[in-house]
Amino acid sequence: MSVLGGHLLGLEPLGPWQIQALLDLAERAARGELEPDALRGRVVANLFFEPSTRTRLSFELAARRLGAEVVNFDPERGSVQKGESLVDTALTLQAMGADVLVLRHSSSGAPHLVARHVQCSVVNAGDGMHEHPTQALLDLLTVRQAFGRVAGLRVAIVGDVLHSRVARSAAWGFSKLGAEVVLCGPPPLVPADLAGPGIVVCHRLDEALEGADVVMALRMQRERQLGGFIPSLGEYHRLYAVTPERLRLARPGALVMHPGPMNLGVEVTPEVAYGDRSLVLRQVTNGVAVRMAVLYDLLTRRQAELDVRPVEPMVLVGRL
Ligand code: NCD
Repeated sequence: MSVLGGHLLGLEPLGPWQIQALLDLAERAARGELEPDALRGRVVANLFFEPSTRTRLSFELAARRLGAEVVNFDPERGSVQKGESLVDTALTLQAMGADVLVLRHSSSGAPHLVARHVQCSVVNAGDGMHEHPTQALLDLLTVRQAFGRVAGLRVAIVGDVLHSRVARSAAWGFSKLGAEVVLCGPPPLVPADLAGPGIVVCHRLDEALEGADVVMALRMQRERQLGGFIPSLGEYHRLYAVTPERLRLARPGALVMHPGPMNLGVEVTPEVAYGDRSLVLRQVTNGVAVRMAVLYDLLTRRQAELDVRPVEPMVLVGRL
């Protein structure tokens, strides 16, 4: 049975069993247990309207490892430059036979809009300041592998939470699986309304790190900082950077994560980012397995539930 149904738009709407089932499937993908041609004849279209290295390339690798064809839509060269709407672009790719649209967009809610207009599956690869569900899944998988569990761990997510879709998806994912999430950063960069069951908000880094098993540093999102939220990057570094000294406040054996790309010397120091407590590259490796699991679930398990094939070509009648 399909875990996801039609789309993967976010982690907020998923239940713990769905998240666990995807992580189990990703473990199987990592062990090479999914049939290598499970997606033969299927088309995965990457539509990235914002820059990406890890997410785009790992979706591409994941699709190819399962035998799918991949097309990469380039907004710089596509007809969006001529005013074509996002929905028209999506419908065009669907009409060419795309079975999955992997969409990254600067507008929160863009994948939800597209999903209302297409029959094929939509995967949110990051929408504005909202969600980045496959990133959270790879974070969960990485932590589950490192600690053997997620429930009962204390996960400190530090930095520019306001602008971070990674933080939102991670907070929802980790708390749904029973971890205690602490969101920490300067008051203007941590919305108080994100607090909820299993999620607390604090503004002092020392407090957030106390007893933490996992410390996730977030990228300072300079491109989304329109409103002078912090006095300076130097000031930010002094108060919130994850440094070797600060890490001593966490539990012995605490591990460090970062979604990348990193601003070394701003939110994290190079010694921490590349030190022996860093999970950063393991996160990247797990990104491929998680995306294989998502594509596999959407494309091999829901055929009977939905017609994901493109519409028949129009038959032109009458005078041409
Ligand atoms: C993140 C993103 O684009 O949301 N990167 C990623 O996908 N690994 C994080 C970020 O840009 O800060």
